Amino acid sequence: MSAVPKDGYDLVVVANRLPVDVSLGEDGEPTWTRSPGGLVTALAPVMAQADGAWVGWGGSPDLTLDPFEVDGTQLVPVTLSADDVERYYEGFSNDTLWPLYHDVIAPPAFHRQWWEAYRRVNRRFAEAAAAQAARGATVWVHDYQLQLVPALLRELRPDLRIGYFHHIPFPPLEIFAQLPWRKAVVEGLLGADLIGFQRGGDAANFVRVVRRLTDLTTRGQVVTITDEHGRTERHVRAAAFPISIDSAAFDALARTDAVQERAVEIRHELGNPTILLLGVDRLDYTKGIRHRIKAYGELLQDGRLSPSETTLVQVASPSRENVGAYAQLRDEVELLVGRINGDFGQVGHAPVQYLHQSFPMEEMAALYLAADVMLVTALRDGMNLVAKEYAAARSDDRGALVLGEFTGAADELAGAILVNPHDIDGMKDAITYAAHLDPREARKRMRRLRRRVLGHDVNAWSREFLAVLTAVPQRDSHV
Ligand code: G6P
Repeated sequence: MSAVPKDGYDLVVVANRLPVDVSLGEDGEPTWTRSPGGLVTALAPVMAQADGAWVGWGGSPDLTLDPFEVDGTQLVPVTLSADDVERYYEGFSNDTLWPLYHDVIAPPAFHRQWWEAYRRVNRRFAEAAAAQAARGATVWVHDYQLQLVPALLRELRPDLRIGYFHHIPFPPLEIFAQLPWRKAVVEGLLGADLIGFQRGGDAANFVRVVRRLTDLTTRGQVVTITDEHGRTERHVRAAAFPISIDSAAFDALARTDAVQERAVEIRHELGNPTILLLGVDRLDYTKGIRHRIKAYGELLQDGRLSPSETTLVQVASPSRENVGAYAQLRDEVELLVGRINGDFGQVGHAPVQYLHQSFPMEEMAALYLAADVMLVTALRDGMNLVAKEYAAARSDDRGALVLGEFTGAADELAGAILVNPHDIDGMKDAITYAAHLDPREARKRMRRLRRRVLGHDVNAWSREFLAVLTAVPQRDSHV
């Protein structure tokens, strides 16, 4: 058990990353930029409204910093050494768990030293959170990098309410069971009072894993934790809470003159293509970028799309570049893009505009507005917030969304054109259909998409999660 801090926070978020990447400038002062990915996109607006603390890594190795405040949130940096980054972050988190939890699209690597680093770093995060939380506070732990934190934290601070949200898919038992440390991971998660998942199917997979890998009893979505005498100690609930975006803010951003003008300018800079297709992803093998570009190349080859009148803009933001599978994917994608542009380009026009860069929100909103067809054809994805951003941006009720069936978003976004991203012919048909969609049909679909996205935003998501979590009876504290 650890001491309760005198001026602790009532809400503490614990995530691998802080919402900003911090590095030391040439003058030795810390400078920061917004960090990548869906988790930060979702949580930043939630924290902006709460008086809370956020415990996480600043994104650079060996950087030890004092807590600092950004937009009213106290940021508490956790130091990761270069060795921690290699074994805990690049290794166990992103070369073991990430591929395993995404249906083994890439082969997961199992190394005992990585697991040791994962345990060590999870303990560090749990200790940092314990030092920030007020008595009886709510601590909300996020994502697969920190699955051991709930149980470690409960040991340190039994007075806390602990929630955990899993942003990525939770795999079926048959895949999860490959993990040599599967039982320890399940026990780590069961330290929480509430475990949130993106889809009902993820929660069901987790409950099945608990039934098969532990002796605990489950009833529906509730797991009963017992003490050594078999007496009931507490209950853990597993349930789906599909995440969202700050829809109204995104809608408003896309309506600004600056963004509207930039959207027109983008089309102009691209030579006013008749059909503008767009993909926006982290450069990750789960996103189906290769399959998508292959389908597009075949459509040009078959003459179903005209190379001179069509452009695919593919934004692929740099991600996890020290992990082998990511470096390999980059080579494969760039080879493919080069081939298509070589075969079908003309002087002054490349059918694929490939951008290995990250862009600010304003530019993303302008791209969404400029695009006739948005391609979100991930092979597997916990949710996919790009799909929701696209809908939020399209207050003109135009555009079309082609969406992979194996994304969490597919459960919710009925107005999308759904595809199996492994089925190249099916994807070609869907892209062609979307590119020539009748405007009335497009409007109908976009309205459905927007109703869902605007009606269920990230504030509703966090409110619902925290309401269920705070309904857990307060535990008598002996601390
Ligand atoms: C996904 C994960 C997040 C992660 C983000 C960016 O959205 O669910 O936990 O932060 O990708 O990946 P990175 O490895 O750069 O943090």
